[in-house]
Amino acid sequence: MEQDIKKVLISEEEIREKVAEIGARISEDYAGKNLLMVGILKGSVVFMADLMRAVTTHARIDFMSVSSYGSGTKSSGVVKIVKDLDNNVEGYDLLLVEDILDSGLTLSYLRELLRDRHPNSIKIVTLLNKPARRTADIQPDYCCFEVPDEFVVGYGLDFDERYRNLPYVGVLKEEVYQG
Ligand code: XMP
Ligand code: MG
Repeated sequence: MEQDIKKVLISEEEIREKVAEIGARISEDYAGKNLLMVGILKGSVVFMADLMRAVTTHARIDFMSVSSYGSGTKSSGVVKIVKDLDNNVEGYDLLLVEDILDSGLTLSYLRELLRDRHPNSIKIVTLLNKPARRTADIQPDYCCFEVPDEFVVGYGLDFDERYRNLPYVGVLKEEVYQG
């Protein structure tokens, strides 16, 4: 697995420090609120596991799984819910937890869909932000790192369902894509 990585973009240590910092900010901002952290499967699982432990106020968690109708590494903005939330979100302060905000199409679709269910508030936290490829009008409220326009894997992010278990974020070698 390691030999497929061209370079380490964000190390374990950098991730650990930044997640602690963002977790502390969220803890402050959500004190006294009704926080529900919503992880978008599967890319968010590693980030969610670390971030939720960096939050020191009461927090609930839930997960949604969506599939984009787009193919490969691009998303189309048309999203199918594969697994919905377990509970009603009315009265909750939702924090959508995502691995990466890329075109933004997936999250802007999801945000609209969840808005219609009348939560108290909706915000977005992403591990990564790739503003170069944004087409939807959406920004993360909290973001750990900005990344350049390269396909990144690790710490939850996959290529063809692999590399999610790398403990850092890295860039794949071209020959891995090209097969
Ligand atoms: P957007 O914002 O384009 O992103 O709707 C939707 C989903 O696409 C995935 N994605 C990536 N996955 N490396 C990955 O492993 C990347 O560089 C990358 N860019 C987008 C990701 O699952 C995101 O939720
Ligand atoms: Mg994802």
